[in-house]
Amino acid sequence: MQLIVSKNFNKTDSHKIDTYIAGGGYEAVKKCLTSMTPASVIEEVKNSGLRGRGGAGFPAGMKWSFVPKESSKPKYLAVNADEGEPGTFKDRLILERDPHLLLEGIMIACYAVGINAAYIYIRGEYKKAFDAVNAAIKECYGRGFLGGNIFATNYKLDIYPHSGAGAYICGEETGLIESLEGRRGQPRLKPPFPAVAGLFMGPTVVNNVETLAFVPDIISKGAAWFAAIGTPKNSGTRLFGVSGDVEKPGVYELELGISAKKLIYEICGGVKDGAKLKGFIPGGLSAPIMTAAEIDTPLDFDSLAKAGSMAGSGGVIVINETRSIPKIAARTADFYAHESCGQCSQCREGTRWVSQLFNKILNGGGRKKDIDLILDICSNMTGQTICVLSDACAMPSTAFINKYRNEFEALVANN
Ligand SMILES: Cc1cc2nc3c(=O)[nH]c(=O)nc-3n(C[C@H](O)[C@H](O)[C@H](O)COP(=O)(O)O)c2cc1C
Repeated sequence: MQLIVSKNFNKTDSHKIDTYIAGGGYEAVKKCLTSMTPASVIEEVKNSGLRGRGGAGFPAGMKWSFVPKESSKPKYLAVNADEGEPGTFKDRLILERDPHLLLEGIMIACYAVGINAAYIYIRGEYKKAFDAVNAAIKECYGRGFLGGNIFATNYKLDIYPHSGAGAYICGEETGLIESLEGRRGQPRLKPPFPAVAGLFMGPTVVNNVETLAFVPDIISKGAAWFAAIGTPKNSGTRLFGVSGDVEKPGVYELELGISAKKLIYEICGGVKDGAKLKGFIPGGLSAPIMTAAEIDTPLDFDSLAKAGSMAGSGGVIVINETRSIPKIAARTADFYAHESCGQCSQCREGTRWVSQLFNKILNGGGRKKDIDLILDICSNMTGQTICVLSDACAMPSTAFINKYRNEFEALVANN
């Protein structure tokens, strides 16, 4: 199996600049700056088919091309290292173990879009990751890879690490921008989209850590090489963070399109203690649960969307047959109720109401009509709000009921 973003993880001193350079590091950005135009860099990333690994799977090259070439205001890159989605812990490894791979990806993205300042918004709890990134940035300034006249060209770039404010909503791209500006992380109404008016109202690209970490290899090995990995329209590998009732939890870099069956049973050694599989959540907590019968589904953006779930952040949560789905549903809704920023009533009221009803059912005080009431509330929480946190609660809540309704009915009075 070809490793791209995790290829350096197990090297001694993998976080140091000398280790990175010894493995061919910083050659790709040098190639861009000295022999490629910004437009040809964007074209290469577009042709590679690279899709965002932060959640929505949006094509990275296309996102970059939306930023206006000429701008009266400075342009920015905001790197999303907030990693707040429950079940997701893959960017952390890149930040801690190979921060230079991320920095090189940032440099290439910034050159391509005409950006001279990038901010890395790092989850507040990730102290070790913050320190590793901070030290790597300092090493780059020391070698002249950041600042002015990079690789003897007239290109200049500064990169700033920023510690996150400790809320899930700060991972939403416009919540992140607000937080970077020093305010509460409350998402902004779109349009305008960040590509037009983002950080400090300048045109801004927001990309996930892992997305950017693919870019150096795409430049050095070519778009066609990357596009040949994975499946058509879902090219490359991704980091799957596997947790829950599984023998070998961890972070695994695998081709997009691998089946859940292969991931859980062959790569991760199967369900823990030989138990039977009840279901799995394929892309972080917001992704609707899949049943054991759906185990052959390929884990890529399009196949999972077709199956009514989503690839999201690549966090795969394995659930064995003894787990109570109503309990998982209540805990899930509790999380979103706690994390709603409160701007939109559908989300502020809806997440709390759904959480209350799930807990009422779980604690034996529920009625059959409460189950349908949850579905009704969820349908009114979808597609109605400034950001999709509301949907992120409604989608899994609906799936828990639709796929395991008997477990909820067993807990309620028949009225
Ligand atoms: C509530 C919420 C939380 C999010 N949290 C994260 C996060 O922690 N990390 C991340 O990369 N994207 C997160 N996203 C997705 C971002 O809004 C954005 O789509 C992503 O950073 C874009 O990067 P990409 O195109 O490289 O995937 C979140 C979205 C929502 C709605």
